[in-house]
Amino acid sequence: MAASARVLTPEIRTVNEDWTVVLPCCGRQRRNLPRIRSPEEQQKQWFLTELVSDPHRESKLLQKLHACIKKFESSEFFQTFLDQIQTPEILNHFYSVLGSELKMQMVIYGIGSIESYETPRLQLSLAILMKRKFSWIGDIEVFDPILSATESRVLESLGCSVLSVNEQGHRRAIKPTLFYMPHCEAELYDNLVRANWGVTLKGMVLLGNSFATYDQHVDEYKSSVIVDTARHVLAVRRLTREFSIQTVSDDYFAAFHDSSWHFFSPDLEAELQLVEI
Ligand SMILES: C[S@@+](CC[C@H](N)C(=O)[O-])C[C@H]1O[C@@H](n2cnc3c(N)ncnc32)[C@H](O)[C@@H]1O
Repeated sequence: MAASARVLTPEIRTVNEDWTVVLPCCGRQRRNLPRIRSPEEQQKQWFLTELVSDPHRESKLLQKLHACIKKFESSEFFQTFLDQIQTPEILNHFYSVLGSELKMQMVIYGIGSIESYETPRLQLSLAILMKRKFSWIGDIEVFDPILSATESRVLESLGCSVLSVNEQGHRRAIKPTLFYMPHCEAELYDNLVRANWGVTLKGMVLLGNSFATYDQHVDEYKSSVIVDTARHVLAVRRLTREFSIQTVSDDYFAAFHDSSWHFFSPDLEAELQLVEI
């Protein structure tokens, strides 16, 4: 479905997916604004997901994903995405994160329901194809509290490991790590930046919501919610090199709008000490 035709009002998509999608102020851009969930709410999500995989749904979903990956691979969006990664400037950033290591593991947070929605399927297709195309991308780990047992089984048959623990984004990049966090809430990015505040920021790359857009939102709308929930994101902004993802066509807009690669400055340690948060 063309992104511009999608319903933009806040919606509860399923009983266990309480996303808040907020209307933008202008054009076709939408923002996933930060939302704070209590530990009780987060726990509740766990109880609502199914416990046993359904083989029939599993095979249907796997077929759907194979078709999605195939279509994605031949898209103009994917070609543009690959071209962008392979520019010397971006490749150098990746090599600098890799250092002397040969592989960069990928951690995917917040993919959403791959069974219920096309957007998470497109986002997953991109992750799988990146791994296929680049030998330096290592194992893929996935976590989203809303993943069902069926979805987890399918992810595993596509070669991903599904984490059983909710890290709340607090993973430290003690080895080179690509965090793939498509359209997550600001709080999760903030947890990640905070957990890596210091030397480990250099060992990570983040593909997720544009930090520049959060900054801009604070400037334009004086959003105190973002100031409070994305404190570390806003603080690390000026030490971040950001490259935005081109959505190219409406078909990929919903899945990748406002998304960027984020690399963190190699002279970070000294500079971070100077940044007040
Ligand atoms: C705004 S939705 C985005 C879903 C999908 N990527 C998309 O673009 O439609 C945010 C997702 O983050 C997930 N999430 C919430 N807390 C999380 C956590 N601690 N770790 C990983 N994912 C989390 C939610 O369940 C939800 O699927």
